[in-house]
Amino acid sequence: MMYSRIAGTGRYLPERVLTNQDLEKIVDTTDEWIRERTGIERRHIAAPGETTVDLAEKAARQAMDAAGVTAADIDFIVVGTTTPDVIFPNCGCLLQERLGIRGCPAFSVEAACSGFIYALAVADRFVAAGTARCALVIGAETLSRITDWNDRSTCVIFGDGAGAVILKPSAEPGLLSCHLGADGTYNDLLFTPYGTSRRPEPGMPEASYIQMKGNEVFKVAVKTLERLVEETVTANGIDSSAIDWLIPHQANLRIIEATAKRLGMPMERVILTLRDQGNTSAASVPMALDTAVRDGRIKRGDLLLMEAFGGGFTWGACLARY
Ligand code: UT7
Repeated sequence: MMYSRIAGTGRYLPERVLTNQDLEKIVDTTDEWIRERTGIERRHIAAPGETTVDLAEKAARQAMDAAGVTAADIDFIVVGTTTPDVIFPNCGCLLQERLGIRGCPAFSVEAACSGFIYALAVADRFVAAGTARCALVIGAETLSRITDWNDRSTCVIFGDGAGAVILKPSAEPGLLSCHLGADGTYNDLLFTPYGTSRRPEPGMPEASYIQMKGNEVFKVAVKTLERLVEETVTANGIDSSAIDWLIPHQANLRIIEATAKRLGMPMERVILTLRDQGNTSAASVPMALDTAVRDGRIKRGDLLLMEAFGGGFTWGACLARY
């Protein structure tokens, strides 16, 4: 049996940092409220003109270096993003051109905060089947572009960034299982009102910012993630004590704590980046993974549980031997 295996990781955060104190000057909020309700203290914001693909390219090059591969080796590109540079060409194609690659499939997956897990699950199937031999999988976002900076209920939460992994075939495990799900009946709890095909009425504002009924999202997120991690553990016939690291989507510290508690995992074995990065949607899981790989916490052979939940609603988990 062939597995796909993470051969290298990378991440990139834009230079500009926006702190909770900075936000106190923009909207009616406090550092204390943001820290207590979310766990976030600061987030990175893309520079004017800096796009999702700009961030993705930097993360991709780091992951390629870490995996010891060159652009010529890559034969599959998939980008999870909710904030593509343009409607088309898709971010995968734009990234392919930046990297000087031609011919391989390149596309984006649109699954909000679960975008990276969805992208990883797709790439895993291609690599494990032998169809792709070196897949570049990205989660990248410039959420600051669809954030209403007058809305305190959302603007304190989100940030920009990109994370990347290279997947290669391996006889040793690798990605063990991926579990994806969605429930579109919740499309009114976390959404943007307009896009390409659905337009505002004539005379209405053109801007299409993130709208979120945070409290209701919170409740469904906690329940869904608890069910999802149990499903993943059960499907693999393991005890959750076998998991070395939980790498959660970084939406809210309280959601992450609830998931860890359900798994019986101490917080020391949970990778947390949201304090310094906020919620970066599809970028959060690969950036957290890369953070812990580079600081030496995650070692070869460790068992990782990655999970995410987001707009749609969509959700996904991957159990992987690093
Ligand atoms: O990443 C994809 C999925 N997204 C999530 O998983 C997000 C899930 N939701 C959350 O993380 C939380 O619901 C939030 C952090 C968004 C909000 O926390 P909460 O504890 O659910 O607060 P709330 O929305 O129930 O609001 C409580 C109070 C309200 O005031 P009243 O009505 O009690 O007087 C809000 O108006 O907090 C107020 N509030 C704020 N106060 C200060 C809302 N935003 C702020 C703010 N600063 N930034």
